Amino acid sequence: MSSSKIIVAFDFDNKTDALSLVKQLDPELCRLKIGKELFTLYGPDIVKQVQDSGFQVFLDLKFHDIPATVSKACKAAANLGVWMLNVHALGGANMMRAAIEAVQDSAHSPHLIAVTLLTSHNEQELHQLGLTGSVHENVLRLASLAFESGLAGVVCSARETILLRQKISSDFLLVTPGIRPVGVASNDQQRVVTPHDAIINGSSYLVIGRPITQADNPAAALQQIITSLPI
Ligand code: C5P
Repeated sequence: MSSSKIIVAFDFDNKTDALSLVKQLDPELCRLKIGKELFTLYGPDIVKQVQDSGFQVFLDLKFHDIPATVSKACKAAANLGVWMLNVHALGGANMMRAAIEAVQDSAHSPHLIAVTLLTSHNEQELHQLGLTGSVHENVLRLASLAFESGLAGVVCSARETILLRQKISSDFLLVTPGIRPVGVASNDQQRVVTPHDAIINGSSYLVIGRPITQADNPAAALQQIITSLPI
């Protein structure tokens, strides 16, 4: 079982490329995040194939529905044996409590975390949705709600971890995308943080996609990132 802080975002539109990367990476050195595209294409089979190769899976489906429906979806995901899964905090406290009860009952008891705000939302969009206050205020409120609802952590920007660590318990998981090693293309990520700084600032796990998946040598890129982390 891996103790690595790296979760590789397994964003592929075909099984050939996905399984080719599985062969190149060491499950001791990372976990894999399977999202909506790969799961919609290949379903539980791709999760099982990846797990059969020794990898722990973060199933990133961001459930958001009425409590009964989310509860059943979380139970189904937990029964797949995934290591981590997530829901939207905007689904509310009742939905998050139903979700946590569902996974706690499962044999595997995965980490259930919440998405606070999508990083694609700016303040203007929040106000259109009726969410007053700044992005940071909304992130903090939703992360606190996830914590009080019993969830294990949140997905958040690595620029929000210092604020969240000041306000919420130190064992609350902060899972951060938007990570780029020094000198690597930021692609469409707006405000990136290096793997080293993200850990220093309180990230529990780093979600990293293209700097590894699109590298000429993904295993070497992963190793370089691990080497750059504080001890
Ligand atoms: O390739 P890259 O490292 O940018 O991939 C980051 C991963 O994290 C992608 O799967 C993306 O969907 C996800 N993500 C993100 N920002 C968020 C939430 C998730 O980049 N706020």
